[in-house]
Amino acid sequence: MNDGQRANRKNITELVQPHLLDLPGYTPVEPVDVMARRLGVPEDRIAKLDGNENPYGPSPKVAEALSRYRYYHIYPDPAQRNVREAIGRYLDVDSEQVVLGSGSDELLALAAQLFLAPGDTLLDAPPTFGMYEFLGRLHNARIVEVPRREDFEIDMPALESALARGAKLLYLASPNNPTGNTLSPQDLDRLLSFNTVVVIDEAYAEFAGQTFVELTTHYDNLIVVRTFSKWAGLAGLRAGYAVFPKPLVPILWSMKVPYNLGVAAEQAVLASLEDADYLRDNVRRIVEERERMAARLNDLGWVRPYPSRANFILCEIQRLPARNVRDELRKRGILTRYFDSAGLHNCLRISVGRPRDTDRVIEALTEIGEGVRA
Ligand SMILES: Cc1ncc(COP(=O)(O)O)c(C=O)c1O
Repeated sequence: MNDGQRANRKNITELVQPHLLDLPGYTPVEPVDVMARRLGVPEDRIAKLDGNENPYGPSPKVAEALSRYRYYHIYPDPAQRNVREAIGRYLDVDSEQVVLGSGSDELLALAAQLFLAPGDTLLDAPPTFGMYEFLGRLHNARIVEVPRREDFEIDMPALESALARGAKLLYLASPNNPTGNTLSPQDLDRLLSFNTVVVIDEAYAEFAGQTFVELTTHYDNLIVVRTFSKWAGLAGLRAGYAVFPKPLVPILWSMKVPYNLGVAAEQAVLASLEDADYLRDNVRRIVEERERMAARLNDLGWVRPYPSRANFILCEIQRLPARNVRDELRKRGILTRYFDSAGLHNCLRISVGRPRDTDRVIEALTEIGEGVRA
């Protein structure tokens, strides 16, 4: 390229789609080693309670399967046959309806790609998982917020009138992140009567013991997205899936990039489902620990835990700035997530860890709160 040609070249960012130039990115959590270095705390002193990960990790059968596997140099099955069939058996759904991806995030994104053209309406019910708004912005959709009520239930009259005005897509998490409450079957039934696609995000469903998967055979506008990150402890391996209504399935296979689920994730999913009872035991321990942690938090007197059916507890912090409490916990190696947005004032979300993690949280909060009671 000569100097004249160089001078005529546009700045490369001028070629980027304009709506992407000021996209506020999704804020992810940082890994343990990065946080340990940043905080000057040894890695084994980090209690990672900011990402709703599973403290018990995967089934031991996952590591065995990964070390036994001999075809890492071969592409995965593009049709995901074995894993789809295993999930079909796990959920008692037709395996044809199942599509897997790199975490449920990829399936949430696939739903947005499938339905959202620029200017289409996406309904969002905050406070909720930030990914939905992010995906709306990514696709240059018109995002209409229908805030939840004070008790974090969805606002049905407001949602129904927004749906009546016309919307392409509505994401709802059940249990909802970060609030922990579930959606009622009666409300979902009413939402599905509109010409809008409803994506139910069941990332935490195993902790709540409630699923809407079965309804995907009766409603062609319902997609249920699920993951192995939380109940099965595979967050790092990235394995999620969605159960789609049958009419959408051929379209999905033609638009999805091939080989999006790596063989390691595939083997891990198969081994996890073979050891589902072991994993369900860990889910039971987490649910028991959630209730113990909620009671201990409540006893502090200045922390108000909201009821949760997931593997985390949202707490309203009273009489202290929640951001300072988050920072004080961090200094002690305890990572939590801070929220202060519309509908979520001065809150911390604490993932449920092992009993010893809860004990550290309570001990640290007792120290931090000294004087608050006085
Ligand atoms: C409600 C919700 N959906 C989806 C995800 C993404 O999970 P995955 O690891 O399967 O991409 C999360 C992760 O925290 C979540 O909270």
